[in-house]
Amino acid sequence: MTAPESQKMWGGRFERAPDASFYEFERSWSFDRRMLPQELALDRAWARAIAAAGILTNEEGERLVAALDEIEARAKSDVAWLDASKAEDVHHFAETALIEKLGPLGAKLHTGRSRNEMVATEFRMYVKEAVREIRGALGLLVRAIAAQAKANLGIPMPGTTHMQHAQPLLLSHWLLAHGEAFQRDAERLAAAAAGADACPLGSGALTGCAFPLDRKALARDLGFSRITANSLDAVSDRDFALETLFALATLAMHLSRLAEDMVLFASPEFGFIELPDEYSTGSSLMPQKKNPDAWELIRGKTGRIYGSLFALLTTCKGLPSSYQRDLQEDKEPLFAAHDQALAMTRIAAAALAATKFREARLREAAQDPALVATEVADYLVAQGIPFREAHEIVGKVLRAAEQDGKSIREMPLERLKQFSPLFGRDLSTVLTLESALARRGVAGGTAPGAVRAALADFNARIAKLEENP
Ligand code: ARG
Repeated sequence: MTAPESQKMWGGRFERAPDASFYEFERSWSFDRRMLPQELALDRAWARAIAAAGILTNEEGERLVAALDEIEARAKSDVAWLDASKAEDVHHFAETALIEKLGPLGAKLHTGRSRNEMVATEFRMYVKEAVREIRGALGLLVRAIAAQAKANLGIPMPGTTHMQHAQPLLLSHWLLAHGEAFQRDAERLAAAAAGADACPLGSGALTGCAFPLDRKALARDLGFSRITANSLDAVSDRDFALETLFALATLAMHLSRLAEDMVLFASPEFGFIELPDEYSTGSSLMPQKKNPDAWELIRGKTGRIYGSLFALLTTCKGLPSSYQRDLQEDKEPLFAAHDQALAMTRIAAAALAATKFREARLREAAQDPALVATEVADYLVAQGIPFREAHEIVGKVLRAAEQDGKSIREMPLERLKQFSPLFGRDLSTVLTLESALARRGVAGGTAPGAVRAALADFNARIAKLEENP
């Protein structure tokens, strides 16, 4: 097979067509066809801009725009047409279709522009849209978290560090802890989209357009808030894609951490949650099994998104100034990360919303007396004992309790007094779960009042996120 198609774009100085296998190797149509909507929007804006600059008549500009509309309509209804195309890339596809429709007028559209600036512009447009979509999915996830936090308000659970019982907390506090991470992800993505929101058009291949173009009007026409500052930088800058990939990798990491908690909580040893049938699977061998596959897959897919970030970082490393064909490798990692992060976030939102928290089991686990050891030390501190000393005393009390085969709640006052005369009857009131929770009333703490306030604040930020997805 010879592959003369793309030579129409650049074949003048060539004697022979590219080798067929090389043509397959260098083509990007199979994946950059995803940017066809951005390509056609750009082409329409360009037709208007060069008509305004006097390069085309207004009538020519209008005919080009109408033909591009028709191409868009056909592309939507005739996928076979796209599948059959032998175009080199999305820009070549649109140009070929336009020339087929309009002949020489179609061939006028590429005046004064380069695919280098086009691909940078369309990729930025794609990234802005992808971020909007993922922020929408994040909205569902933080809503699911807020709904569970509200429905389960007041349920305690054991809080751990190093996976060891540490202090009790409210289940809603744990839920909102994950929620905070996702709120930050939404902000990080918005910042990445703001980075992408600069229009390179008018940069030409590398040195700028030679025709008197109104770059700002062109940028506005395509929904950009500003133009890029330097043509050479604009055709080679992919920072916006890297920042988006970093934001997606961090989101995936947060999803993976939530997933890890959920997998643990679903195990019989924890038994904190009941997995929803709709988001679990069974075993083909063991009839008793209900597996947390949704969460395991979310955890498992995180690596691919890290891979995308590293792939693009590596592509950009060591490139000389200006556009290099290496940069064509920017799109597949971002598309893949976009697809995966979107699916992961949506499934996490739905699976979390459908999860039942097992209140009785959580309450029982939160009763572990080890969880109130800090309270005993604080009790002694309140009587004037320096904290380090109090810590030492309580350590000894706990060791004795272990030897006596009792919990600290069951130790007789007389026995406690052997360790400090300051222990009194009122100690029992600080050893309750309720007291341990209620004492954490600082902003950001786990006391019921503080968590209620945190939930209200969390909801207010969700509303903001949804206002401006
Ligand atoms: N398909 C190319 C890409 O994605 C478009 C730009 C091609 N420019 C060039 N000078 N060959 O980067």
